[in-house]
Amino acid sequence: MVVLLVIAQYATKWLPAGFASLSEGRLNAWHLAIGPAILLLMLLRLAWRLTHHTPQPPSDLPVPLRLLSRGTHWLFYAILVVLPALGWIAASGYGAVTGAKPRARSCSRTKVRVGR
Ligand code: HEM
Repeated sequence: MVVLLVIAQYATKWLPAGFASLSEGRLNAWHLAIGPAILLLMLLRLAWRLTHHTPQPPSDLPVPLRLLSRGTHWLFYAILVVLPALGWIAASGYGAVTGAKPRARSCSRTKVRVGR
């Protein structure tokens, strides 16, 4: 589910405006909707992970591989929480989420005009 949402999230930025009759504004709106959904799902997933037991790896698994598998899991959690959180913070910073007048510099794809 989260993987599909992350793919869709990239697609909203990489697909050309007009794809499937979606205007650039529509694609941006989807981007702003899917991002927080990813964050919410990941926080729920993380809460579940922290409160439930998970299957133990095979007892004969070498320690380096055991550490690698645990590390990879937690790295995915970290990336999938930090990435949408940073996107949200950054977008809020120049008003993309709230619709407030942008304060920061122009942004590549959203064509936000700033300054006077
Ligand atoms: C897993 C989560 C996310 C991924 C993978 C992602 C991915 C991207 C990508 C690839 C771009 C295009 C960057 C460029 O063209 O230079 C982008 C831009 C943007 N993202 Fe996200 N994003 C995520 C979450 C969010 C969230 C949660 C928000 C806000 C609620 C957000 C708001 C924006 C905005 C406003 C832009 C336009 C920035 C610009 O035009 O410079 N993103 N994002």
